Amino acid sequence: MHIIRRRSWELPESAVTPEAAFLSRRESLGLGAGLMAMLAAGKARAASQAETDALHPYPRNAAYDPGRPVTDEKFASQYNNFYEYGTSKSIAAAAQQLVTRPWDIQIDGMVEKPGPVAIDSLIMAMPREERIYRFRCVEAWSMVVPWSGFGMKALVDYCKPLSGAKYVRMETFFDPKMAPGQRAPFYPWPYVEGVTIEEARNDLAFMVTGAYGKTLAKQYGAPIRLMLPWKYGFKSIKSIKRITFTDQRPKGLWESLQAAEYGFWANVNPEVSHPRWSQASENVLGTNNRIPTLLFNGYANEVAGLYKGLEKERLWA
Ligand code: MTE
Repeated sequence: MHIIRRRSWELPESAVTPEAAFLSRRESLGLGAGLMAMLAAGKARAASQAETDALHPYPRNAAYDPGRPVTDEKFASQYNNFYEYGTSKSIAAAAQQLVTRPWDIQIDGMVEKPGPVAIDSLIMAMPREERIYRFRCVEAWSMVVPWSGFGMKALVDYCKPLSGAKYVRMETFFDPKMAPGQRAPFYPWPYVEGVTIEEARNDLAFMVTGAYGKTLAKQYGAPIRLMLPWKYGFKSIKSIKRITFTDQRPKGLWESLQAAEYGFWANVNPEVSHPRWSQASENVLGTNNRIPTLLFNGYANEVAGLYKGLEKERLWA
């Protein structure tokens, strides 16, 4: 006779959550059943820009309270750093040459399954939300912007890195015909930036696909950029085309150009001056206010733990 003997780790049928309840719990967490399946499979379904445009505004996550007024969009959208379109802050008009569809992001390096993912498919597959963040540029100006996007952690999970991957390296497009600034031979194009995998998995690290409740305007680095609000702004790379998981520390464009001034970590610290200016305070964009700069741009509670044991590193520039 066949006797069913239940082992300690086996659940009785009655204790199994019914599938419908399991799925609706996931729905209430903002993750649809189809999405869960796609994430598990590392796949995303085909989608169009019309579909992703229509997703805005993303629901706001009120946990990210900047404690300062939001910068008027007319200032944030007209005062940009995007060297692919020029070295002045007034590149918004030139940046309209950027062609953002079709836009595939190449995922490669130490991942289970390398390959391209189309931007709209990725956006559909990610847990989307809006967060208002403070932003501090290394040039000592700051702003507060409602960014729309998804946690970088969700993107890392989607990419399924191998256990040996220690860093995430990101690269902007390279197309001198579309971006006149890339005809300037002085810069080591394309723009590159990178973070440790722990930083990438920190809750604050955010992939941006929109701002001010709309699809990301080109000058902000459409169709997808990074936002690391505790680091100087140059780490927040725009218009990402390639994401590589690696065991080698990536060297960013600015570090390649001027390592004495711009390093890998670039965490905001008012007490560590840039070689050419103080970082103690910042000009608030669109105002006449100059306010004190905060350690980690005020996000120390969220990120200071990432740097324990790394005190010998050049964490601040
Ligand atoms: N990403 C690319 N590809 N090219 C750039 O020139 N500039 C960086 C960062 N990301 C830059 C980039 C710098 S120096 C800053 S301060 C921010 O983008 C500016 O972002 P914003 O224009 O949205 O304010």
